Amino acid sequence: VNELLRHLGMVLDAVRVDAYREALASAVRPGAVVADLGAGCGILSVLACQAGAGRVYAVEPAPIADVARRLVASNGCADRVRILDTDAAGAELPEPVDLLVSDLRGTLPLRLPQLAAHADFADRWLAPGGAVLPLADRLLAAPCRHPASLHRRAAAGAVEGVDLGPLVDAVGNSWWRQDLAASAPLAAPRRWAEITYPWRPAALAAPLAWELESAATADGLALWFEAELVAGVGYTTAPGGHADSCYGQAFFPFAEPFELAAGDELAVELRADPAGGGFVWTWEAEQRRAGRAVATGRRSTFYVDAPGLLDALRPPPLGKVGP
Ligand SMILES: C[S@@+](CC[C@H](N)C(=O)[O-])C[C@H]1O[C@@H](n2cnc3c(N)ncnc32)[C@H](O)[C@@H]1O
Repeated sequence: VNELLRHLGMVLDAVRVDAYREALASAVRPGAVVADLGAGCGILSVLACQAGAGRVYAVEPAPIADVARRLVASNGCADRVRILDTDAAGAELPEPVDLLVSDLRGTLPLRLPQLAAHADFADRWLAPGGAVLPLADRLLAAPCRHPASLHRRAAAGAVEGVDLGPLVDAVGNSWWRQDLAASAPLAAPRRWAEITYPWRPAALAAPLAWELESAATADGLALWFEAELVAGVGYTTAPGGHADSCYGQAFFPFAEPFELAAGDELAVELRADPAGGGFVWTWEAEQRRAGRAVATGRRSTFYVDAPGLLDALRPPPLGKVGP
């Protein structure tokens, strides 16, 4: 994805930007010292200045920092915003900050390096009594249909004479961004987890269960979040939400679609374990009828995106065993 376009997409997400504007207006005291971690094009630094910040340290290691420098100047904030072309770990601020603002999320907020960098940065630079914005993200889940599922078409033998099994397995053990319609969830969402910032990445695991009111096919699990920026101000990335959302939802495909009858229960154990440079996701689903399991399926990104972990578990090549 073109990085510049991605940043434009983030600033054109009006629900997100308006919520940050409102939250900053209530969190920034006149003359406050603010850090904008992962400043991108500098939008949150400008909003912090408009809210009355005295000084803003905008930390951004990517080339977009050059755009931030220009955007800050074109908005009359150059005298108050200092752009630091470095990642969080390398940032040296001349003073502690009263407020640490950021949006380091992707489709989901669970991005291991970003969360760790945020927590370390807060440890180093947040003044005693200082605040973080956002305060928390709540992760919500619901079983959903996904009729256009590409990997199911591939599994059905889409390329004549070619076994696509390994590719289908790899895709089926991963999650991806999907922009789901409001009608995609088959039941009311359940809260899976909540992270309160600054948050030191840790394993998240919780059972989820739904009782279906009417018959439906569940292709996978949708996961999204509700951001609480400051008390009473936030936004949701729920399916069918605002059309210009820069987040979408995460779609976790089930091993096989579940054909659910009215009254069936669908139970899912969803977990995210920090490992190497990212989270390993595992989702294990069970369809129950009158309390008895009638179908199950288990998937994990362990098989596709934790090569470091897999290497560690793999036995050493035979020739190299022993001293
Ligand atoms: C989702 S964008 C948000 C940009 C901007 N703050 C906004 O709200 O539109 C996250 C930004 O964080 C930056 N970033 C990622 N990891 C970082 C780190 N460890 N230290 C500083 N910035 C980081 C990325 O380069 C990216 O520009």
